[in-house]
Amino acid sequence: MKLLHRARLRKRPKLKSRVRQLVEFKGIRQLSRQKYTEHIRDLYDGPAGSVLALASLISLHEPLVGRMLRKGKFDVTRFNRILDIGSGAGQILGHLLRATDSDTQIVACDLSHQMLKRARNRIKSERPDYVVGDMTRLPFADESFDCVTCGWVIEHLSDPRPGLKEFQRVLTPNGRMFLLATEDTVSGFLTSHTWKCRTYNRQELQGACEEMGLPWHEQLWLSRVHRFFKMGGILVEAQKPIAADTVLATPPRPESGTLPAVSV
Ligand SMILES: C[S@@+](CC[C@H](N)C(=O)[O-])C[C@H]1O[C@@H](n2cnc3c(N)ncnc32)[C@H](O)[C@@H]1O
Repeated sequence: MKLLHRARLRKRPKLKSRVRQLVEFKGIRQLSRQKYTEHIRDLYDGPAGSVLALASLISLHEPLVGRMLRKGKFDVTRFNRILDIGSGAGQILGHLLRATDSDTQIVACDLSHQMLKRARNRIKSERPDYVVGDMTRLPFADESFDCVTCGWVIEHLSDPRPGLKEFQRVLTPNGRMFLLATEDTVSGFLTSHTWKCRTYNRQELQGACEEMGLPWHEQLWLSRVHRFFKMGGILVEAQKPIAADTVLATPPRPESGTLPAVSV
């Protein structure tokens, strides 16, 4: 009886992931990677991208993430070089600029040139570098950043591992990642249809992060209410481990011209 129960438990994640794939947006798994990426670029370049900032305000995501950063839940003041992946309308970018010193280098990277233009117009700051790039092929050298932030972007990959591998590559040893992702909840499924993305099962995403060398350090919540009702998505701080033979050095403050040319 006990064995049967255990076997059922082992089967549950597979069953859950099958149910998830049935109800969430399916295009992400049906189109080729290239076709899907083009589709997503067009989506964000177009009218949907122009209402993204408003949607983040209405859903309270933008103000609540700002509150988390201000309260030091994910302390960004400890970093020298921050890469914000999938910056969108600059929802996280704006908070990073406000929370850090003026000599902290911040790079905003996004697949959509149009979204980066919107972010720049909204943020009204010349401080960040804006770089067009795909999260699975980041145009940066190994170990260029001591922090990577990535909010609501990894759900645009049917398999998160190529993206996570890139985040790990550009991070310095001991570097931190602040990852926010859509969870396989009812609101997550609705989000997946609105933004043509997938959702993640928490354990599966944790396993993928570990596999790619980004073990989770802490799970975070947008607010106490979100923590209580286990809602608001998967928010985590992960850490790139220090290899046994690595001598830790603070990444140097950047000199001008050390990053790829600003492309927006
Ligand atoms: C929902 S928005 C997230 C905006 C912002 N990070 C936030 O926290 O609200 C997703 C952004 O990810 C970008 N994106 C989607 N696929 C991407 C990829 N493969 N590489 C880089 N950016 C991508 C989109 O262009 C869009 O601007």
